[in-house]
Amino acid sequence: MKKLIVANWKMNPQSQKEAEILLKGTSKAIKGIKSSQIIVCIPYVFLHIFKKLKIKNFSLGAQDVSSFLDGAHTGEVSAKMMQGAGVKYIIVGHSEKRKGGDTDENINKKIENILKSKLSPILCIGESARDNHGFYLNHIKTQIHECLKSIPKAQAKNLIIAYEPVWAIGENATREATASEFTEVKIFIRKVISDMYDSKTAHAVPILYGGSVNTENAKNFLIDASADGLLIGRDSLNPKKFSYIAGIK
Ligand code: PGA
Repeated sequence: MKKLIVANWKMNPQSQKEAEILLKGTSKAIKGIKSSQIIVCIPYVFLHIFKKLKIKNFSLGAQDVSSFLDGAHTGEVSAKMMQGAGVKYIIVGHSEKRKGGDTDENINKKIENILKSKLSPILCIGESARDNHGFYLNHIKTQIHECLKSIPKAQAKNLIIAYEPVWAIGENATREATASEFTEVKIFIRKVISDMYDSKTAHAVPILYGGSVNTENAKNFLIDASADGLLIGRDSLNPKKFSYIAGIK
């Protein structure tokens, strides 16, 4: 299976011109990479540029979606609208959105809506701190159970899960995660999915690592920990670094 390399631009860049340069630069930099499937998740206002530039060598993703299907919901963007813009993947449950009020319950609704629109959710899960008693594993298990509670087996195989320990994300990261910390959680997530559905589904769902992935540590996760892919924030804003990571095999 190809590795899934997902860019999360977050609230960057600040102008359409810069977004066009970044999209073009990314497309050029990843030319010739066959070992991974690349997804670039960008801000809503820039989604239309993807079609305008006729980009073919990566898939378009968004960073969030409304928990409503349609109707009077000021400021919201539906999965169906994004489908029309060429979006194939949508990140949900990112810790930065959870901090802003997202709950397992409305993430569950978002996943339902994404799947109804025939798109794939990239569900982010992860604990905010580690402990020596395994409470963080309970937290991860609850997130999976609650976020997927209404999702039937037939649809579960369209999911992607990204394990993003909150303590390892962004500029406030306290430290980097190790390959073995990821391996442990990856096995645990597979077991939880297997118990919820079955082992075939558990193995069909790609499990990615995210949190301060860079050109130095990416291969620890991809090679040593056999991650099915990566979710990359800061280093996805640099096409040279991003394409280096996407080319690791
Ligand atoms: P980071 O962000 O790579 O900048 O830590 C990852 C993420 O939050 O998805």
